[in-house]
Amino acid sequence: MSELLSNEIEDYIHIHCSEVSSVLQRLERKTYTDVLMPRMLSGKVQGTFLSIISRMMQPKRILEIGTFTGYSALCLAEGLSNDGLLVTIDINEEREDIIQEAIQEAGLKKKIQTFTGNALHLIPQIDEIFDIVFIDADKINYCNYFDLVIDKVRTGGIILADNVLWSGKVISEKRDKDTEALKEFNKKVQEDSRVDNVILSIRDGITLIYKK
Ligand SMILES: C[S@@+](CC[C@H](N)C(=O)[O-])C[C@H]1O[C@@H](n2cnc3c(N)ncnc32)[C@H](O)[C@@H]1O
Repeated sequence: MSELLSNEIEDYIHIHCSEVSSVLQRLERKTYTDVLMPRMLSGKVQGTFLSIISRMMQPKRILEIGTFTGYSALCLAEGLSNDGLLVTIDINEEREDIIQEAIQEAGLKKKIQTFTGNALHLIPQIDEIFDIVFIDADKINYCNYFDLVIDKVRTGGIILADNVLWSGKVISEKRDKDTEALKEFNKKVQEDSRVDNVILSIRDGITLIYKK
């Protein structure tokens, strides 16, 4: 849940959102019982948003930066075209068993490729053009991720960036490193003439960036 909206409104939004698959429901429960910092998981509302965007675009290639337990990867993969592929990167290998089990259960083994390592080092090695990129890793590197992926996104493709409102801290005077990095990212995107962009106040804020 975000801290941007009242709990009542968050509950209302949650109730008025389609149900996700039983695989996603199990993965969310497992993440909350077995994994540290489970709140990093996208959850039903954001996951449904990602799934619908992907189903509208029917992408051939998706890049996700920040797999965690694989929830958002499974949501995004729901829209992949028949020959589509989602590549997802995470620096932490500890959740690999949970991720692989969920991918297997969802029948997406052929459509999701997981990579373990620092996305900053791995992205330059990927020779693909993406329809959708989802940035959801360390906030401090959001500007770097944008620079690394912008030329790998096709015209008409999109970049989605999560947590861009950072519980509302982007408009506060507070000066921690993550908040500063997100403010810099939001400014950078706003000033980039190659893209059109809008912040959606879903959960912790998602920027939808369209490559012109
Ligand atoms: C917010 S979680 C991702 C949540 C996931 N996308 C979801 O919605 O369920 C952020 C993830 O980024 C990973 N991460 C942090 N720094 C990274 C880096 N430099 N390269 C790759 N992954 C990184 C963390 O290990 C963590 O699993």
